[in-house]
Order: sequence, then structure tokens, then C-alpha cells
Amino acid sequence: MITIDGPSGSGKGTVTQRVAARLGWRVLDSGALYRLVGHAVDRRNIDFNNENEISDLAASLDVIFEDKKVLLDGVDVTDAIRTEAAGNNASKVAAMPGVRAALLDWQRDYVQQPGLVADGRDMGTTVFPAARVKIFLTASPQERAVRRYKQLKEKGLPANLAALTSDIEERDARDRSRAASPLVAAEDALEIDSTVLSIDEVVNRILSEAQRVYAIPL
Ligand code: C5P
Repeated sequence: MITIDGPSGSGKGTVTQRVAARLGWRVLDSGALYRLVGHAVDRRNIDFNNENEISDLAASLDVIFEDKKVLLDGVDVTDAIRTEAAGNNASKVAAMPGVRAALLDWQRDYVQQPGLVADGRDMGTTVFPAARVKIFLTASPQERAVRRYKQLKEKGLPANLAALTSDIEERDARDRSRAASPLVAAEDALEIDSTVLSIDEVVNRILSEAQRVYAIPL
């Protein structure tokens, strides 16, 4: 088990995919689950203040992960859950303890041999506290906004750097200050600042940590 936590745009998604591919391990993209809940709330016009209804919804979501696609109630939402608005809605529902509790078992069910790389905000602190390799990946807010901008443009999605910077700051502040599983490095996490590191450098650092702890042949 490797947990990779950190703020939005720190590179967690890409790094998680590459580390998992190198090891032949499964991936848990926990942010996608919060994004799905936020999206479902939006689509069903549920009030974002109605924690009880949103928690019930989170516990009963009809989701299918199919190849690289995500279906919610049978509808392909793969791109819809990747927008900045969806990220912001995700962070609103993620502040609700009822929602976090509803997603806990779902996330733990991802554990599979030979291993799992779990990407999120509280993988090392709350969901998989016994993991022996915990990474906390950061980067400066400016660098994270630029990366998000490039990512969105590559996908052909609308992007505005100034708006992205303030969205990232707003989302970080909410994720760090919430009472339920705030975004914080686990005490035993290895912190990596990726501001001036390439993706390969970050991946190699994590792989050598995994090799050191689990004696995995690479
Ligand atoms: O990682 P991603 O940007 O997809 O996550 C979207 C939002 O979901 C985050 O801003 C955060 O509020 C929430 N989240 C969370 N805990 C996780 C993963 C994501 O609270 N483990």
C-alpha cells in the first residue's frame, strides 16, 4: 500500500498512475468519488446545505467504472466530473462527515493484491492509517494553478489562469480547515515538494521509498 496525499494540482493523479503502472498495482482515485457525489447533488438539484440528504445519496450512488469511463446512473460523466466547478462541488460535499463516512468502506474495498496506490487528501491519515509508505506531495499554489491550466487546455476544456488560482486557493483553504479529515500530512508521511521536480523525479523518489520499505524488485 502506498498513499499519496496533497493539495489539488500537486501532481498526485499523474504520479499515482505512473507509480501504480511501474509496480503493477491498482489505483484508487478517491477524489473521483467526491466529485461523483458533488456532481450527483448538482444534477438532482439538491441543496448543497442539506447534509443528511447528500450523505444518503453518497451511500447509494449508482456508479460503474468501465475502462477509462465513469458512469453515474448509467450516464457517462467522465469529463463532467473533471471540470473546476465539479472540483469545487466535490470539496463542498467532502467537508461533510456523513459523506466521508459513507465513502469509507467503498475506498477500503479497493485494497487488492499485489498492492494499491491510493490518491487523495486523507489516505494516509484516515482511510489507510496503517500504510507503510505515505507520501505528502505539495507544490507552490502558482505552480499548481499553471499545471491545472495546462491539463484543462490539453483536454480541450475551458481554462482561465486567474480564476484557477483563486479556485485552488479557495479549495485548499476549505480542505485544510474542515473538521472532518482535513488535508494534512500524516506524521509518518514523506513530504515531497514537486515545485521544481519533474514527474519522473517524483515517481522515482516514491519508487525508491517503496523499494526500501517493501523490498519490491523494480
Ligand atoms: O483530487 P481531486 O481534485 O479530484 O479532489 C476533489 C476534491 O475532493 C478535493 O478538493 C477534496 O475536497 C475532496 N477530496 C477529499 N478527500 C479525498 C479526495 C478528495 O476530501 N481523499
